[in-house]
Amino acid sequence: MSLVLRPWVFLLFHVLLSYESNFQRRNGVEATKRVFLYPQSPKVSSIVSNKYRTAYHFQPPQNWINDPNGMYLSQTTNFQIYNVEVAKDVSPNFSGPMYYNGIYHQFYQYNPNGAIWGDIVWGHSVSRDLINWIRLEPAIERTTPSDINGCWTGSATILNGDKPAIIYTGADPDKRQVQNIVFPKNLSDPYLREWIKSDKNPLIEPVGPGLNSSQFRDPTTGWIGPDGLWRIAIGAELNGYSAALLYKSEDFVNWTRVDHPLYSSNASTMWECPDFFAVLPGKNSGLDMSAAIPSGAKHVLKMSLDNCDKYMIGVYDLKSDTFVPDTVLDDRRLWSKIDYGNYYASKSFFDSKKGRRIIWGWTNETDSTSDDVAKGWAGIHAIPRSIWLDSNSKQLLQWPVEEIESLRRNEVSHQDMELKNGDLFEIKDIDTSQADVEIDFELSAIDTADPFEPAWLLDTEKRCREADATVASSVGPFGLVVLVSNNMEEHTTLHFRVYKSQQKYMILMCSDLRRSSLRPGLYTPAYGGFFEFDLEKENKISLRTLIDRSAVESFGGGGRVCIIARVYPAALIDGGTRMYVFNNGTSSVKIPQLKAWSMRRAQVNVKKG
Ligand SMILES: *[C@@H]1O[C@H](CO)[C@@H](O)[C@H](O)[C@H]1NC(C)=O
Ligand SMILES: *[C@@H]1O[C@H](CO)[C@@H](O)[C@H](O)[C@H]1NC(C)=O
Ligand SMILES: *[C@@H]1O[C@H](CO)[C@@H](O)[C@H](O)[C@H]1NC(C)=O
Ligand SMILES: *[C@@H]1O[C@H](CO)[C@@H](O)[C@H](O)[C@H]1NC(C)=O
Ligand SMILES: *[C@@H]1O[C@H](CO)[C@@H](O)[C@H](O)[C@H]1NC(C)=O
Ligand SMILES: *[C@@H]1O[C@H](CO)[C@@H](O)[C@H](O)[C@H]1NC(C)=O
Ligand SMILES: *[C@@H]1O[C@H](CO)[C@@H](O)[C@H](O)[C@H]1NC(C)=O
Repeated sequence: MSLVLRPWVFLLFHVLLSYESNFQRRNGVEATKRVFLYPQSPKVSSIVSNKYRTAYHFQPPQNWINDPNGMYLSQTTNFQIYNVEVAKDVSPNFSGPMYYNGIYHQFYQYNPNGAIWGDIVWGHSVSRDLINWIRLEPAIERTTPSDINGCWTGSATILNGDKPAIIYTGADPDKRQVQNIVFPKNLSDPYLREWIKSDKNPLIEPVGPGLNSSQFRDPTTGWIGPDGLWRIAIGAELNGYSAALLYKSEDFVNWTRVDHPLYSSNASTMWECPDFFAVLPGKNSGLDMSAAIPSGAKHVLKMSLDNCDKYMIGVYDLKSDTFVPDTVLDDRRLWSKIDYGNYYASKSFFDSKKGRRIIWGWTNETDSTSDDVAKGWAGIHAIPRSIWLDSNSKQLLQWPVEEIESLRRNEVSHQDMELKNGDLFEIKDIDTSQADVEIDFELSAIDTADPFEPAWLLDTEKRCREADATVASSVGPFGLVVLVSNNMEEHTTLHFRVYKSQQKYMILMCSDLRRSSLRPGLYTPAYGGFFEFDLEKENKISLRTLIDRSAVESFGGGGRVCIIARVYPAALIDGGTRMYVFNNGTSSVKIPQLKAWSMRRAQVNVKKG
């Protein structure tokens, strides 16, 4: 859970309530009409426009969401029931591939009463394809002493083949964080609509020396160890440092804390939303943590801190029951990130249907809180991504789930282009505000690349600000400019730059939002991340970018650096947007292949009709 417990939020909420109900009345008429909120910049129309709402990212019809919570694929033996129910229960427009053996469930932190954090319940949606979603009633609400002050993030685990259970964090009457369990009321209900709280709650209390009772949350999915016992890890502050505390149980209800954490670090004071999973190097298939883990597998510990999701790769030492990272970096600025942009509180699950591991994260708005209240909605989830380990065992790779490709239409394709210094090529004939773009950049004369400086790794955003798209070097910057206004005043730039390191090359990928919008009061950083590039093995750098109105989600180098960003260009409302590939480096760049598509709108939590 991302605990946004800042008192000003509550204050602001009450101050804004009257404004909000005003807005809702207006909204009843038409939200996209031009309302000028900024007298100081009369050119910029109101942010209250449906054109900023994403068309195929996950979000509820209105209000606030944050963390994705337990996710799983239900594995009923009675597949028929599922399909009959889905077929007759959903809107006729519910489209996408049909599956015969299961439904994806997605739970999420949701405020039913407004577009800011507060009053959190567990929202619940179901899908057959991870793209089109049906919204159900909340699965968990604050109703018992052990969650009366909060029902926060947790995870689902499938017990004994097909019986799901969810362990989540509650806040008790003393505002201590405790762990609770719920089970489905009726396993024959294909949607698992209702969840029953155990009378054994709270299962786990924040007791023991050094444990901070207000920093004890976000249990992981359970896994079974070689002794046949279940395990979960919980994010905590222990003696002032960060820990993923380890608990064991025979029956998933009676839990005992193991005398050492799964892993801890004094590089920070608290980890939220730990995630622990097994991966095989070079195999883009996932592993089930509770099945036999093949030899050669590695383990990943992911944790949320510093506004982003970081991870370590290592091994799970079964004898000591601890996670042992391959490399320990004392400076947490150097830890690898799942995403170098706006992405937090992610959670992964093993998709037994397709044998892959899928990860999802939360992406917040980067306008102001009052803008969010005016819009009536805040927060999206990134596109679900397959996640696996690179064959070098050094980094995770991610790629949008293949199902998203079913939304593509109007393919535009260009081959064998060459971009010289200063060239700009417009990609036309698609909806540039709702698109999927895949480009390969082929490098020549790479040996002239500028030297790499390891100190840049400490602050990649600074490097992207300094070496921006207008600053020529030998190899790069080259890339894609999206959501460009007619006069180029507004634009969001995705670009690469190649540096020569000792035996290898280092690629800097940036997502520069600093000129993304003329609106005042937005958070517009230049996000960036580095990845290694092996010229012997590859001579192309790929870029995939999903543009979804106010979301720009990019995958560089085959998913080695991922960056999701939120942007609110005025041009999306006034005048429309364009898209270009460009090269501002002194050496030319070849584009053997460029493909772009418009993306259809997905049916995301629309009301049944
Ligand atoms: C749903 O599909 C019907 C028939 O194809 C169409 O007329 C209608 O506009 C669609 N509604 C939405 C909300 O897309
Ligand atoms: C459980 O769900 C099934 C399928 O929806 C339904 O037929 C049955 O009546 C439900 N049982 C109870 C006790 O609600
Ligand atoms: C526990 O965590 C809270 C929230 O960060 C902090 O304010 C408090 O000082 C911590 N308590 C101790 C004993 O460290
Ligand atoms: C819970 O598990 C512990 C450790 O296995 C055991 O000692 C204890 O008796 C169990 N408690 C209950 C109520 O079953
Ligand atoms: C932090 O942890 C490292 C490794 O466990 C240890 O070497 C170091 O002394 C610790 N630093 C502090 C300030 O406790
Ligand atoms: C949203 O994200 C930005 C950047 O990650 C951060 O500065 C801001 O505090 C976040 N807002 C909330 C409400 O968490
Ligand atoms: C390329 O560089 C020129 C000259 O500095 C600049 O005007 C232009 O905006 C740059 N292109 C992009 C996409 O930033």
